[in-house]
Amino acid sequence: MTKAFYITTAIDYVNGQPHLGHGYEKVITDVIARSRRSLGEKVFFLTGVDEHGQKVQQVAVSEGKAPQAYCDELATSFKSFAARLGASNDDFIRTTDSRHKQFVQAFLSKLHAAGHFYKETYKGFYSPKEETFLTERDRRPDGTFDPQYGEVIDLQEDNYYFRMKEHQSWLINHIESHPEFISPPERRNEILGFLKNSVLQDLCITRPASRLNWGIPTPFDPAYVTYVWFDALLNYVTLPASLGDLTVLAALEGEPNAPRSTLHAPPSVNLWPADVHVIGKDISKFHAVYWPIMLKAMELPLPRQILVHGWWQKDGQKLSKSTGNVVDPLAVIEEWGLDAFRYYVVRELDIGPDGNWTDAGFQARYHAELANGLGNLVNRSLSMLKRYRNGIVPARSDELVGEAEKVARETIEHLKRFQLQAALQNVWTLVNRANQYVDQTAPFKLAKDPSQAKRLDEVLYNLVETCRILAVLLWPFIPTTATKIFQQLRLSDEPNKFATAAWGGLPAGHTIGEPAALFPRRN
Ligand code: ME8
Ligand code: MG
Repeated sequence: MTKAFYITTAIDYVNGQPHLGHGYEKVITDVIARSRRSLGEKVFFLTGVDEHGQKVQQVAVSEGKAPQAYCDELATSFKSFAARLGASNDDFIRTTDSRHKQFVQAFLSKLHAAGHFYKETYKGFYSPKEETFLTERDRRPDGTFDPQYGEVIDLQEDNYYFRMKEHQSWLINHIESHPEFISPPERRNEILGFLKNSVLQDLCITRPASRLNWGIPTPFDPAYVTYVWFDALLNYVTLPASLGDLTVLAALEGEPNAPRSTLHAPPSVNLWPADVHVIGKDISKFHAVYWPIMLKAMELPLPRQILVHGWWQKDGQKLSKSTGNVVDPLAVIEEWGLDAFRYYVVRELDIGPDGNWTDAGFQARYHAELANGLGNLVNRSLSMLKRYRNGIVPARSDELVGEAEKVARETIEHLKRFQLQAALQNVWTLVNRANQYVDQTAPFKLAKDPSQAKRLDEVLYNLVETCRILAVLLWPFIPTTATKIFQQLRLSDEPNKFATAAWGGLPAGHTIGEPAALFPRRN
């Protein structure tokens, strides 16, 4: 079985409802997944939720619910959230799934048997909120800890630790010899700087069940549960394993605790190593330092790329439920449509820097680029073909072929490099060019002059064919709109193959369907 292009999002904590950051990450991952499908590749897109640990347990308790019941409700919200965003994910993992728990335990047993862990007493500071051990070095100049840690307590307890130091030098080499491993380069430099300027501390991978029982029991010591990050990162390999991925299963061969049921089933996927883990900048150390080390210890190949996006603010302020400074993606979608949301977040923010949502900016792009740009072009092109030619496509004409094919080529190149914002900018050069072409050729004047009939045929062909190609190029970004354009053109295929972006796809004599506004103008 050929290996699929395997792409993942972070799995979201279910300690609250999904927000703009969660929505953004799913949309950019979906655009990449769809663009690979349009390239003709086999793709597997995984998203899901992170349910264990103190953060989630605390919220469940504060709502008077058992953690599992609470997580079941939130997992339903997050799953339908992904669907409402148009995410084309192939599976949805929950860290409370039994398939996940089984494999986490098998990997823990393997690493324990191989001597990667040791037990030790810890005495020091601890942030229950972030589930993090803190040291003197984490204090700020005034002696306090960053407010993100919440209340910091003194703690003494025994735990299991993962030996990290021995992994530091190969990891530095790997990052240096694989420039694309951490992207964009600012994030790569940050991680390299960290690895070169500090000695890696061993990672505490357990919590005593007496203090925190909402976790996966540690197979080699029932008095402990697994640290939530160790459990969460493993989702990227436990899902493939549960579907029979042979690379991941081979790493567990001979393990007495490996889940047997799937070992004998024929594999239904070939996924590992992942091609891209899409994550936010706050969790790059977990993904670019701890995760590769865990994989190496498990004798599994490393992912090809960690693609790190920036963080959204609204009106220049941090998103925060307590101050009410939030953007609810579902409310925006309800009011403006799914594709308006998808378009804005991808067009506004390149993958890497931080972004700033403003309602005025959102509405400005909606009107200028979607309603007056793409929407107007498609609507007037199809309406004129209906009015002047009964909706029948005239003979092929190649006036815009050079521009359309150049834009198609460049857009596809950008998409292959995950340059989503640049891809959209590029597509809009064709939208703008075609709108300008309408103004320059003035088909409404040509229609009044019978001697210009052939010229009108040419203009109309160039316009509707450009609309068809735009639908193909835009499908990864705004699939609902692309599909509507194809329906209005009365094309029975889906616009999901870049191979069909070549000029001349609309045959002469084909009758189109009914034009209808794609992005209604609003006040
Ligand atoms: O970190 N803008 O979950 P999470 C952009 N469970 N992205 C944002 C954002 C914002 N304002 N806020 C959050 C976790 N994100 C862990 C991940 S992966 C094995 C475990 C992004 O719900 C954040 O950067 O806090 C992360 O990539 C994702 O949303 C989930 O964040
Ligand atoms: Mg977070």
